[in-house]
Amino acid sequence: MAQPYLHPLQVNPRTGEPFLRLPTPLDNFIITPPRSNDAPALKEILNDPRVYKTLESPPFPYLLTHAESYLDMITKECDAALEEAKKAYKEGASEPLGHVENCPVRYIREVKEDGSEVLVGDIALHRCQYPDVKDQSEREELVRTNMRYAVGDPEIAWCFSDLVAGPYHGRGIMSGALKAIMDQWLIPRMGARFIRAEAFIGNVGSVRVFEKNGFVMEKTVQYEMVTNCGVTRLGLHVLCWRSEQKP
Ligand SMILES: CC(C)(COP(=O)(O)OP(=O)(O)OC[C@H]1O[C@@H](n2cnc3c(N)ncnc32)[C@H](O)[C@@H]1OP(=O)(O)O)[C@@H](O)C(=O)NCCC(=O)NCCS
Repeated sequence: MAQPYLHPLQVNPRTGEPFLRLPTPLDNFIITPPRSNDAPALKEILNDPRVYKTLESPPFPYLLTHAESYLDMITKECDAALEEAKKAYKEGASEPLGHVENCPVRYIREVKEDGSEVLVGDIALHRCQYPDVKDQSEREELVRTNMRYAVGDPEIAWCFSDLVAGPYHGRGIMSGALKAIMDQWLIPRMGARFIRAEAFIGNVGSVRVFEKNGFVMEKTVQYEMVTNCGVTRLGLHVLCWRSEQKP
């Protein structure tokens, strides 16, 4: 194993870039860090109504400059996650690798037969911000508590942000990507035991993706809100996944 600190990520021998492969039959899809030349593809994905209408926060319309500054930010985060993974590895240690706070890979790519790659989606992890809790002081307290837990604490409530490019919807890509990230990084390397997912009421595809990965519908909170692209949404479904394994 060339870089054991990255286990179970694989490393592209040609570029040195870490990656996760989606489960069969989606072996031609990988999850990698963002790249500096991703901005045009990201702009196209986020100007597609099949994508932006079920997202709350991306700027609308989504300009190349938005994509460039976003990529700049998340590249730093993924680089920091790689450094953190290096530090968590103790040379020659027999015990399991130490827990880390972040995931170094998030951009889903299709690897074509000629070896070229196409950006087809994004799956990001963060500590839950409880957007469904409408009482501001209650929400702030929940967020503060969640942020205070130490790295790897099984009490942390984790959350996903995810999207797939419109032409790739309904091919099982996000279901496979979620499984790969949960099984190969979030659970073993970040110590996750509790994950909370939110989806707008009516986002059937998103709810199915989580249900197919063992999440259970916990509640539906109804309230009216207008997203950045001007669509009125009627509230959120909250789905939860809890590990059966004792921490
Ligand atoms: C939600 C989203 C990430 C799903 O990704 P995906 O790769 O298309 O999902 P999958 O192909 O893995 O589909 C999973 C399941 O949902 C179903 N599904 C997907 N889209 C659906 C839709 N629009 N309506 C009904 N069912 C849908 C699939 O049929 C599949 O179920 P099945 O296996 O029982 O047939 C994608 O549609 C997307 O990016 N939407 C825009 C952004 C967004 O909403 N992100 C999530 C924010 S919470």
